[in-house]
Amino acid sequence: MSEMIVGKNITRTFAVPGGEFQALKGIDVEIGEGVFAILRGRSGSGKTTLMNILNTLDDPTTGEILLDGQNVKDLNAYEREELRRKKMGFVFQSVSLIPSLNAYQNVEFALRMAGVKIDKEAELRIEECLKKVGLGNRMTHMPSEMSGGEQQRVAIARAFVHRPKIIFADEPTAELDSAMAAKVTETFQKMSSEEGITILMTTHDVGLMGAADMIIQLENGERIDAE
Ligand SMILES: Nc1ncnc2c1ncn2[C@@H]1O[C@H](COP(=O)(O)OP(=O)(O)O)[C@@H](O)[C@H]1O
Ligand SMILES: [Mg+2]
Repeated sequence: MSEMIVGKNITRTFAVPGGEFQALKGIDVEIGEGVFAILRGRSGSGKTTLMNILNTLDDPTTGEILLDGQNVKDLNAYEREELRRKKMGFVFQSVSLIPSLNAYQNVEFALRMAGVKIDKEAELRIEECLKKVGLGNRMTHMPSEMSGGEQQRVAIARAFVHRPKIIFADEPTAELDSAMAAKVTETFQKMSSEEGITILMTTHDVGLMGAADMIIQLENGERIDAE
């Protein structure tokens, strides 16, 4: 199995009033293709900091990142943006669907943003994605007509419609009740196994860990799980 995300000895230091704060203290991580990985740890343990370094939005203070075999250091700003747009999908804690577009149109908009022309094949792909997240019967619903969990599943369809290699999801279940959170997590599990997408999701909800292929646990900027 090939590695999709590799981080080598990643540190991240922030300048804070009166000195420096080391949020990541030398993290090694390897996540294979098609693996659903959960990044867990208490609030403040460094999850978001690590995720934003692995998705190229932030740079480590020291260390290296390889994505699908490519060293991020070798990419300029434009190439990184292309990498994010074409090879990555993002899901956030607060569902940010466009309120004036229905479920189908929200997913279609994302596909356009990824640079895909909307032809018959693209339309079938949009429908397929909404069906895969269990919303085949909600395609024309507006965001206001859906539950929080349903809206988050539209956001997941939106994140993988362009067939990215990796999905980064930072606390996607934090605003959902436990039944909806389980359903959303199950949807990620399904996407990784059916489409071979590597998924890195952060959460501090212990009840969701069973769905993951791999768990990476952080505490005070250090990895404490047994690799
Ligand atoms: N831009 C920043 N400047 C200073 N400290 C930061 C910054 N971003 C994060 N931190 C600190 O780094 C630690 C880890 O934060 P974060 O990665 O957001 O944790 P988590 O996502 O696990 O809750 C926290 O102590 C936080 O206050
Ligand atoms: Mg966070």
